[in-house]
Amino acid sequence: MKLWGGRFTGETNELVAKYNSSITFDSRFWREDIKGSMAHALMLGNQGIITHEETELIHKGLTDIYNDIEAGRLEIDMTAEDIHSFVEATLTERIGDAGKKLHTGRSRNDQVALDMRMYSRNAATEIGKKLKKLLTTILSIMKENTETYMPGFTHLQKAQPVTLAHHLGAYFEMFSRDRSRLKDARERMNYSPLGSGALAGTTYPLDREMTAKALDFYGPTENSMDGVSDRDYLIELLSCFSMIMMHLSRFSEEIIIWNTNEYRFIEIDDAYSTGSSIMPQKKNPDIAELVRGKTGRVYGSLITLLTALKGLPLAYNKDLQEDKEAFFDALDTVSDSITLFDGMLSTLTFNKEVMAQSAKNGFTNATDAADYLVVHGIPFRDAHGIIGRLVLYCIDKNCALDDLSLDEFKQFSPAFEQDIYEAISLKTCVEKRNTIGAPGMQAIERMIAHCEEALY
Ligand code: ARG
Repeated sequence: MKLWGGRFTGETNELVAKYNSSITFDSRFWREDIKGSMAHALMLGNQGIITHEETELIHKGLTDIYNDIEAGRLEIDMTAEDIHSFVEATLTERIGDAGKKLHTGRSRNDQVALDMRMYSRNAATEIGKKLKKLLTTILSIMKENTETYMPGFTHLQKAQPVTLAHHLGAYFEMFSRDRSRLKDARERMNYSPLGSGALAGTTYPLDREMTAKALDFYGPTENSMDGVSDRDYLIELLSCFSMIMMHLSRFSEEIIIWNTNEYRFIEIDDAYSTGSSIMPQKKNPDIAELVRGKTGRVYGSLITLLTALKGLPLAYNKDLQEDKEAFFDALDTVSDSITLFDGMLSTLTFNKEVMAQSAKNGFTNATDAADYLVVHGIPFRDAHGIIGRLVLYCIDKNCALDDLSLDEFKQFSPAFEQDIYEAISLKTCVEKRNTIGAPGMQAIERMIAHCEEALY
């Protein structure tokens, strides 16, 4: 049944009805729609706009519909125009004329604006919880790997040694910022558009404070035209989602590299990898690749909404219906991506020996060897040159700096003594770096304490 048949004499074109309909995707927020209607009905009753009996009938009717859908006793009719029409029609079918009064002082414009806010507000909370779980996983791996040495890279070239704890700590910071961005966005969006009407409020004495409070909002939105046509909050959330995916994708890229035959830093658990139909030896990092691949699709949703809104005159326009599929798709993608990434990460095995060996073989201690000479009175620029020549010598011999004899060291500079080995050991190189944020033990302990705090 149409909510707007009165003004029409002709039938709607079939394809128009299909093109216009949103029930296949807005049925997703049936709970929010019914809860919003309950709050609206109670407020109408409270204000004397409908009678006490009507309020009771409507409220009970809506409660029954809610419970029936939840229990699977009532199926949402996919031929209805949208979820709002379905709920109202079902209510009237069940309780008669009182049901027709529910929509007093309300438009689907403020109704859908309310439903979407409530749904996405909850989604923001859920994604925040998932991020917290991921952060917990990262932190626990950090704690176990404060002395797991590995090369740190710049330009994807081995640069200086770090630890796994230090490397993962960088991702902790990223996801922690994502979490706080989500919280900010949630704060800003937490105002109720219900009572904005079609665009210009209504002549009924609605109590917007009451419905806002009943639905856990901080208060009502301040401008009814903005109330029905604002989707900024969705763009903010999509931008948070995009950033989360971008971070997951960066991390995925590293997992993929670490998993290559050449690196062998990690072993992905069987549960989180798949094989090849033709090459029996294959074990592929599909989850990491899919997360990387799906990142584009979340960016796509962000751009979809930015574009949908850029030319929209006030107030409501049907273009706004396009917010839903884009948002839901991004939400599902980011939600599954965090869950799977977390699962993959928490079951990863790190080949600590291989990682340390890789740091050792990559001349990641060259800076420290130069610093050793500086301590022994050689100007840094000269020390840099000496170590550069030493590195060349080692490349030729296919060995690490640590593998040279003291005699060989001395051929390059008489300043080298027996303690050079201690000075350029991986452990020393890392341990001496204790500036705030660095990989040394003291610095890492501070970092871990900061992470613990950030989690709560
Ligand atoms: N399905 C619509 C949407 O998602 C509901 C609002 C319809 N309002 C209207 N004036 N036709 O935006």
